[in-house]
Amino acid sequence: MAGTISSMTNTQVRKCALITGVNGMDGSHLADLLLEKGYEVYGLERRTSKPNRSNTAHLEAHPNFTFIIGDLGDQNSLLRALNQSEPTEVYNLAAQSFVGSSWMIPEQTGNINGLGVLRMLEAIREYQENTSENVKFYQAATSEMFGKMVENPAKETTPFYPRSPYGVAKLYGYWITKNYRESYGMFACSGILFNHESERRGIEFVTRKITDGVTKIKLGLEDHISLGNLDSYRDWGYAPDYVEGMWLMLQQDEPDDFVLATGDAYSIREFLDLAFKEIGITDWSDYVKQDPRFMRPAEVDVLRGDATKAQKILNWKPKVNLAEMVKIMVAEDLKRNTILSYQLSRSEE
Ligand code: GDD
Repeated sequence: MAGTISSMTNTQVRKCALITGVNGMDGSHLADLLLEKGYEVYGLERRTSKPNRSNTAHLEAHPNFTFIIGDLGDQNSLLRALNQSEPTEVYNLAAQSFVGSSWMIPEQTGNINGLGVLRMLEAIREYQENTSENVKFYQAATSEMFGKMVENPAKETTPFYPRSPYGVAKLYGYWITKNYRESYGMFACSGILFNHESERRGIEFVTRKITDGVTKIKLGLEDHISLGNLDSYRDWGYAPDYVEGMWLMLQQDEPDDFVLATGDAYSIREFLDLAFKEIGITDWSDYVKQDPRFMRPAEVDVLRGDATKAQKILNWKPKVNLAEMVKIMVAEDLKRNTILSYQLSRSEE
């Protein structure tokens, strides 16, 4: 049974969120935001021998935060999580989120990113039937569904053309969410988010790989960064701005789908310029090696979004621009890698 926030009075509406993928970048930023807003927050995490709570360790002792074990691959675990948390809002952020790996594990990617969404929707439907409660549902859709970009910039009405098993699976998640909204009247929304990054980004993604890499170069821990295609363009925003957009979608009177994007696209080379500039290097050509291992069988060359609808209806706008974000990410990685460098030097003594 869900607890109640001690300060809640009888007239206040209970606000309780269940977040799948809470240990990821978006999940952890969203948990922070909702706790600040006075929500009770439950975070779904997979059972592993050692949970990866590097983004959520600070929440372990929070009185209004609880971890629940569950898995998008396990239908019953989702219903149990709903019964335990009794949420008013569910944010489905769990996924096999790395596009590059989706060619290596296409079936698992389809199972979690596609069918996992269906499992959660079915669990919510059953929970609503059993309890007569209404639950609002947010699905983490993605600009990867636009893939080959039939229209640039892409908006909610742009036709989809996914270019990876990841994008194809996410497209199923998007359509099944729309279908459950239309079939059962569920308050179910998809946020079609363009790339968004932060200091909590996984190290395998290109932005964090670069900010981690440049700081290691500065500290003498590495002498280069190995990358794949440097000529793709991405519309990069700052993740804390984007989780606010997710929340706003569920505060509307009617469920709908929204693109969140900055409207500007930059190449990997331009990202490299900004990151190396932070450590005082203007010509990075000797520090970056192209490695075919990081090339993809099919590439999304350009992603750029038009968030006019979100701006008009949600009053949402990104606050942090790319240069500011790179500054934040490099500063954080510099701190982390300085500690690492100190620890390495101590272990060598
Ligand atoms: N990861 C990675 N590693 N990407 C590289 C590298 C490298 O060494 N070198 C070049 N790239 C290029 C990729 O080929 C791609 O064109 C671009 O950098 C961005 O790659 P990622 O950072 O892995 O992100 P993504 O755009 O594929 O996917 C991210 O954004 C999607 C939204 O558009 C992820 O967050 C997805 O989960 C999300 O849906």
